[in-house]
Amino acid sequence: MKPSNANSRRDFMKTAALATAGATMLNPISIPGAYAAGSDVIKIALIGCGGRGTGAAFQAFETGHNLKLVAMADAFEDQLEDSYSKLLQKFGKEKVDVPQERKFTGFDAYKNAIKEADVVLIATPPGFRPTHFEEAINQNKQVFMEKPVATDATGIRKVLEVAEKAKAKKLNVVVGLQRRYQDNYIETIKRIHDGAIGDIVGGQVFWNGGGVWVRERQPGQTEMEYQMRNWYYFNWLCGDHIVEQHVHNIDVANWVKGSYPVKAEGTGGRLIRTGKDNGEIFDHHVVLFTYDDGTVIHSECRHFPGVHNRVDESFQGTKGRTFMHAGNHGVLWDAKGNELYKHNGEHNANPYQTEHNELFGAIVKGEYKFADAENAAKSTMTAIMGRYATYSGKIINWDEALNSEVELMPDTLDWNAMPKVVPGEDGYYPHAIPGKTKVI
Ligand SMILES: NC(=O)c1ccc[n+]([C@@H]2O[C@H](COP(=O)([O-])OP(=O)(O)OC[C@H]3O[C@@H](n4cnc5c(N)ncnc54)[C@H](O)[C@@H]3O)[C@@H](O)[C@H]2O)c1
Repeated sequence: MKPSNANSRRDFMKTAALATAGATMLNPISIPGAYAAGSDVIKIALIGCGGRGTGAAFQAFETGHNLKLVAMADAFEDQLEDSYSKLLQKFGKEKVDVPQERKFTGFDAYKNAIKEADVVLIATPPGFRPTHFEEAINQNKQVFMEKPVATDATGIRKVLEVAEKAKAKKLNVVVGLQRRYQDNYIETIKRIHDGAIGDIVGGQVFWNGGGVWVRERQPGQTEMEYQMRNWYYFNWLCGDHIVEQHVHNIDVANWVKGSYPVKAEGTGGRLIRTGKDNGEIFDHHVVLFTYDDGTVIHSECRHFPGVHNRVDESFQGTKGRTFMHAGNHGVLWDAKGNELYKHNGEHNANPYQTEHNELFGAIVKGEYKFADAENAAKSTMTAIMGRYATYSGKIINWDEALNSEVELMPDTLDWNAMPKVVPGEDGYYPHAIPGKTKVI
C-alpha cells in the first residue's frame, strides 16, 4: 500500500465525516489521486446475503478494483454462510476476508457490518431498506442498494430525507434500477428527450411474468421467521410485485416523461395465487398513471404461469413512437412507421456490472457522481401509489399517497414478535378487498 494513496482514501472518507460534524465541507472531487494506483483497499460490507446480494458482491469484485469484503450481515446464518462459501470459492480468502467475528446475524446485524466498511452493498427485502440506508449514511458510507427502496409511504419519506443527507455529505448512492445503466435505454431515451418522436402523450409498461418462488412454512418456525423466509408474499417486506418487479418499468415511464404521475387508478386481485403460502399479495394489477400534462401511462403486471408474457415499455409521441426492452432493444419510429433509430445491442455491457463499474470507478477517483436515491424513492412511490389504487379501488393522488400514515412494518422486530398481518384460523392470510381496504 502506498502511503500517499492510503492518505487520499482516508481523506476522502474523512471529508464526509467533516460534513456530518457541520464543518466546512470539502469537495471529495478536489482530492487528488484517491485510490489512483489501485493499491489502497476499499472495504465493502454486504447486507442481505441472498441471490442478489451475492450477485452484487460478485459484480463489485469484477470491477477489478482493489476491494475486500470485510463484513457480512444477514437475518439468517444459513443464508450468510451459503453466500460466504460461494464468494470464498470464487474470489479466495484474500478478498473475502470475513472471519467469524465479522459475520453478523439477526435484525441488528446491519449496524455492525456497516461499521466495518467504506462501501455498503444492501440487498435485503425492501421493507428494511429505509432503516439500513439511513444507518449507512449516518455512518458516512458510500452505498449500492437494490430497488425497490421501501414498501410504504412512511419508508419513502425516510428514504427521501436520507437521500438529502447523502447529497449534503457527497456520498455516492447507486440504486439497482439497472435500466438506468443500460445502453439501449440510455441511448433511446436520450433521443426521445432530444425530441425525436415529439412530446410523449401516452405509453404502456408491462411486467407480465409467470411468478416467483414460494418458500413453504417449516415446522418450528415462528410467524416472524416464516414471513421473513417467504418474504415475497408479505407487503411489509416486499410491497407486492407491482413494487418489487414492476418498479423497473414504471421507473422507465417516469424517466421518459421526466416527471412523476399526479394520480393513479386501477384494478387488481388474486385469481391464481390463492394458497396458504401465498400470503397477502395480488397476482395482477392494472393501473393508469396520469401525469401533470394529462399523459396517461397504462401499467400492467401479472404473475400467471402458462400464458402470454411480456416485460417491456412502449411510448407514443406527437411525432412517432418507441419500444424498449431489457434484452437490449430500443427502437424509434416516426408517425408513419419508418424506423428512425434502432439500438444495436450486440456490444451492450451487463447493466448489473455497469452499476458497480460506475460506482467503484467514481470512488477510486474520489469523485462524487451518483445520487440515485431520490429518483428511486419517487419511482418506488409511484409503484406504491399504483398498489394503493388497486387495493382500494379508488383514485389516489400523489400527495395523499406520499402522506399516507398506513404503516406496514411491525412495531417490534424480534423472532417472537408478530407482524401486523397474520393468518386466520383457517391458515389463510387476509388480503386487500377493493372498496373496503384503506390505504391512506
Ligand atoms: N435489480 C434487479 O433486477 C433485482 C433482481 C433480483 C432482486 N433484486 C432485489 O434485491 C433484493 C433482494 O432480493 P433477493 O432476490 O436477493 O432475495 P433473497 O431472498 O435471495 O435474499 C434476501 C436476503 O436478505 C436477508 N435478509 C432479510 N431480512 C434481513 C435483515 N433485516 N437484515 C439482513 N438481512 C436480511 C435474507 O435472509 C436473504 O438472505 C430485493 O429488494 C429485490 O427486489 C433486484
